[in-house]
Amino acid sequence: MNPAIDRRRLLDRLDALAAIGRQPSGACCRLALTDDDRAGRDQVVAWMRALGLAVSIDPIGNIFALRAGRRPELAPVMTGSHIDTVRTGGAYDGNLGVLAGLEVVAALNDAAIDTERGLVVAVFTDEEGARFAPDMLGSLVFVGGLPLDQALAMRSIDGAILGDELRRIGYAGTAPLGEPLPHAFVELHIEQGPVLDAEGFRIGAVEDLQGISWQEIRIRGQSNHAGTTPMRLRHDAGHAAAAISCFVRELAREMGGSQVATVGKVDLVPNLVNVIAAQATLTVDLRNTDEARLQQAEARLAGFLAQLAESEGVDIACRPLARFEPVRFDGGIAARIEAVADRHGLARRRMTSGAGHDAQMLARVCPTAMIFVPSVGGISHNPAEHTEPDDLVAGANVLLGTLLDLCHEEN
Ligand code: GLV
Ligand code: MN
Ligand code: MN
Repeated sequence: MNPAIDRRRLLDRLDALAAIGRQPSGACCRLALTDDDRAGRDQVVAWMRALGLAVSIDPIGNIFALRAGRRPELAPVMTGSHIDTVRTGGAYDGNLGVLAGLEVVAALNDAAIDTERGLVVAVFTDEEGARFAPDMLGSLVFVGGLPLDQALAMRSIDGAILGDELRRIGYAGTAPLGEPLPHAFVELHIEQGPVLDAEGFRIGAVEDLQGISWQEIRIRGQSNHAGTTPMRLRHDAGHAAAAISCFVRELAREMGGSQVATVGKVDLVPNLVNVIAAQATLTVDLRNTDEARLQQAEARLAGFLAQLAESEGVDIACRPLARFEPVRFDGGIAARIEAVADRHGLARRRMTSGAGHDAQMLARVCPTAMIFVPSVGGISHNPAEHTEPDDLVAGANVLLGTLLDLCHEEN
């Protein structure tokens, strides 16, 4: 019997997970290591156990569920993603990669298929980086890119310490860090951008992923009376924050190509209608597929900040939050993804990922690639995030075919 994705089972699991942490607004909110993240993890682990998988948890809270292969001496193939969300998340970002991985296992179980290599479904901690920067933190620690003690000491936007939160929710595990080292890693994800939807493709074979530069900028000015202080005597941290936001937007427009720039978070102190802001803290997210261009963008921003500090009479300090170079995925796996999509008669194209993903970390230690499915209207990090059920199922079927090929690979 040929294994096949069970549409109803996949969609039901996606719905059930999306209901955990759902807000009155309809958004899905499971910020990393909160009670709602714990509830989501508990549900996924229960599904893993019900499928007969051996579940282990490492010291950064990554969850691994193994379906044993015929040859335990061979490295397993790994798939998976994350289930933490941004505060205003949708139902599919991350969740699809994990639950499609479980559906692949269920399909293999139903068809009584033994594979040569084992298959691991992974759930990585704090992919979003929205509560604890950097993003992809769990997978970064897994591949040795960030020492465990530094990661455990990270402070969240609400002041909590990562290691404390991990223990509090019961996911500070003891499995050896960095194991199992996979033979290959394949992650299914929604595109989160407009390309596949606009061009009418069903499957993206992702061959590269753009570099990411995040920093937090703190501005100290002087608070004063909004009515009495002449414009020429102001040291306005709020104005400086707004000027930075306008500058990076113009920078990205002028640089063109794949350069994007975002100020996603601004906090003003004291944040009152009639008080000039004494302090502003904002984040800047710069991304480019070309490392040299990304460095240019960073340098131009640094030059602007120096000028601004001078002209507005404010202090400006920067703290890096995340910095990852662009990544090239494995061309052989991308070609397999295309071949499987062709077998299913699904229109496909090669593409770049604009978003960060756990796969970019796994690419440091094993051959890796990603499968994208369309995001309607290119909307993501938004409760309106939507992928048509047929596309969710198509992506899971391409994942199944690709993983099966890799699980039977000798070398
Ligand atoms: C992760 O979702 C990112 O790309 O910011
Ligand atoms: Mn994601
Ligand atoms: Mn995301």
